Amino acid sequence: MAVRERLSVMETDITRLAVDAIVNAANQSLLGGGGVDGAIHRAAGPGLLAECRALGGCPTGEARITGGHRLPARYVIHTVGPVWHGGMRGEPALLASCYIESLKLADLHGLRSIAFPAISCGVYGYPIPDAARIAIGTVAAELAGRPAISRVIFACFGKEVADAYRAALAGLSEPD
Ligand code: APR
Repeated sequence: MAVRERLSVMETDITRLAVDAIVNAANQSLLGGGGVDGAIHRAAGPGLLAECRALGGCPTGEARITGGHRLPARYVIHTVGPVWHGGMRGEPALLASCYIESLKLADLHGLRSIAFPAISCGVYGYPIPDAARIAIGTVAAELAGRPAISRVIFACFGKEVADAYRAALAGLSEPD
């Protein structure tokens, strides 16, 4: 299946998606927070926090996997995006790494469907169009080498983010 057919953008609350894994835009403590992190922990229940405590945190750009607990998703992949400081502190590479490391973990666990939020586009202040282009471009490139992952959903909260992701997807140049 062509890479582009495996990618989709949805305006939805990520906690409602019954996919193999949803990705959490966490912080380095992995002990919860606001935004999508807060929504995922609320929907998953206290068991998720208990499991996260045992992980001992996660550096920016890396990813960790836990069970889905009360979520419809089977697993949660926690990744920590960069805080935007103007783009000259390695933010683009760190953001790309979040997508690469999350897909690597999903593939390692034999997961076939995964949903991402707009990592770093909220509290961490990453400019949305740039983040969307990095997300779509990085995931498309990574999927070319990971045929077992058949479905990636970009779960966007709100029209602004969804439009940015749709534009980035439309701009994706298929390798000829
Ligand atoms: N489903 C999908 N997307 C959501 C949801 C949800 N239920 N709730 C929020 N979002 C969107 C936000 O609107 C934003 O577009 O997720 C995107 C990421 O925003 P944040 O959740 O603020 O994450 P981020 O910018 O990566 O900042 C991470 O925020 O919540 C804390 O603990 C977290 O410290 C960490 C920081």
